[in-house]
Amino acid sequence: MGRRIVVTSGKGGAGKTTIAAGLGLSLASLGASVVMIDADVGLSNLDTLLELDGKIMFDLSDLMNRKCRIKQALIAVSGHDNVYVLASGKAGADAEIGDPVRFAEITSKLAEVFDYCIIDCPAGASDGFKTAISGADEAIVVVTPHIVSIRDADKILGILLAAGMQDTMFVINRIRGDLAVSGKMLSHKEIEAVLNAKLVGVVPESDDVTILSSLAFGKIMQREISRSFVMMAESIHKNKRILFDYKKKYRGVFGFIRRKMLEKGA
Ligand SMILES: Nc1ncnc2c1ncn2[C@@H]1O[C@H](COP(=O)(O)OP(=O)(O)O)[C@@H](O)[C@H]1O
Ligand SMILES: [Mg+2]
Repeated sequence: MGRRIVVTSGKGGAGKTTIAAGLGLSLASLGASVVMIDADVGLSNLDTLLELDGKIMFDLSDLMNRKCRIKQALIAVSGHDNVYVLASGKAGADAEIGDPVRFAEITSKLAEVFDYCIIDCPAGASDGFKTAISGADEAIVVVTPHIVSIRDADKILGILLAAGMQDTMFVINRIRGDLAVSGKMLSHKEIEAVLNAKLVGVVPESDDVTILSSLAFGKIMQREISRSFVMMAESIHKNKRILFDYKKKYRGVFGFIRRKMLEKGA
């Protein structure tokens, strides 16, 4: 059986969709077969991020309502042999994902075929969130290095635990090495000390997330953001602590100069 992992967070905007897409593409680059499921039905940003617009014939809501077969709703991601998406773009802004039992049935069937089902979840503890987590065995909470986000993540971890999900993971997104080195931003160690979950990824703040389309992913492999995604995927796949060193660039003499230049906005 494949692993069914939901990507969630306290509030919107922490980077769930970005992390879900980056994780999915990175797991595939490690040789795993992956299906990404857009369970954030109202927003459905996954389609846009992976440039699937126009390719969607049937989507998750059709599948939930038994209007098509699973195979018909899977969209192959260009540039990858082993990555598919179960989109949700057709449903409209106020659509709800629906019955948790049906959703769990769909992800179980997918887990018979794929190594990983990565579920992009709606924010907070809505009904959509409850349905999304019912289709998963594991959860990743996405958190940014800000007190409010950490507090929300802590609440979500509590809710996940109450829902019977034990070994939860978390990813720190949008961290800035320059600020963490100079003590102006919380470091991963400080966040780790607060959250009762396993840290599996550290993703830096980066302008390159905007080019994280399925086709561009291979091309941006050398960039920091892709390296951090691949390390996160390895950490999950190998069940071993492999974290991107977001501070490296800002240590030592040259690091000091880089930090000073950033402070001046150069
Ligand atoms: N590591 C990052 N660096 C820079 N911008 C990011 C990063 N992660 C996410 N973003 C941006 O933040 C916004 C929200 O991200 P998104 O993944 O859509 O969040 P969510 O799905 O949690 O609402 C998007 O505009 C995205 O491009
Ligand atoms: Mg999203």
